Amino acid sequence: MAQYADSAHRPALRRAFSPHRRTASPLGLRLMEHAAVRTRRVLAAFCLTLHEHPTRKAPSIMWFTDFYRTAVGKKALMAITGIVLYFYVLAHMLGNLKYFEGEEKLNAYADGLRHLGEPFLPYTGALWIVRVILALALGVHIAATIQLTIKNWKARPTVYLNQVPQASTFASRTMRWTGGIILVFIIFHLLHLTFGSVGLPYEPHDVYYNVRTGFENEWVALIYILAQIALGLHLYHGVWSLFQSLGWNHPRYNHWRRYLAWVSAFVIAGGNILIPLVVLLRKYS
Ligand code: HEM
Repeated sequence: MAQYADSAHRPALRRAFSPHRRTASPLGLRLMEHAAVRTRRVLAAFCLTLHEHPTRKAPSIMWFTDFYRTAVGKKALMAITGIVLYFYVLAHMLGNLKYFEGEEKLNAYADGLRHLGEPFLPYTGALWIVRVILALALGVHIAATIQLTIKNWKARPTVYLNQVPQASTFASRTMRWTGGIILVFIIFHLLHLTFGSVGLPYEPHDVYYNVRTGFENEWVALIYILAQIALGLHLYHGVWSLFQSLGWNHPRYNHWRRYLAWVSAFVIAGGNILIPLVVLLRKYS
């Protein structure tokens, strides 16, 4: 059914859901049924774990581990943690754009983040809460991906020769690669701009200086730009498929999902790419 989301099937979809139709088309009915089945499947996996667990008289966290054990549960958790990470990269990109407001504004913003929540929270308290949430989300996202991959391999160990990808995109086929690149990038990025330990000039309280001097090095700028391309591809397929993983995909709204996936990838990766590009342009102009 996933193939109905393809552009080749859009005219058929449009006809199937046309408001001018007086009767439901067979394709429309099949698609609606399919969407309902998917939603039911997620809910059923969830309810089954709640209902069938032997300890159900004394509710425990066990229902959650049982739900996680199913492929649907892992997908749902990947989607939820993906949403957390998505909002982080979006907020981080918007914060990064302060670079264009100049040294004073960017450094004040970075300092403000450290003081966030005071006096209710200690210095850098809010930042640590975000760091812990991020680390947990990233850990679960990666663990679920690895376990799901192993599960899939075990279910279908045969490698097909001359396999022709069906209803897939370059972004969807390279999800594990782009995910791996982003992980390596995050490690490099933390060493570069948080710990200042990659051998580039670093001033602990001068974020603007660290970013500028970092991107004036062409290799560093190139690493960041390539990593953002990987992030864009990962976000594109991630945003597109998370609705499916949560059972929220109705063919009628597929074009909106595609649009959101496109905009997210373009805005987040593009916004970040602007910074090394502009630093390099300024260096050479
Ligand atoms: C051009 C792109 C980027 C720039 C200029 C940038 C800039 C920065 C800077 C300056 C810091 C240190 C902040 C501070 O010390 O106050 C930082 C931290 C961080 N960045 Fe980025 N970043 C970029 C892209 C990304 C991307 C794509 C991700 C995730 C995929 C990311 C994840 C993080 C994380 C997790 C931290 C640590 C936050 C913390 O410890 O509080 N960054 N970034």
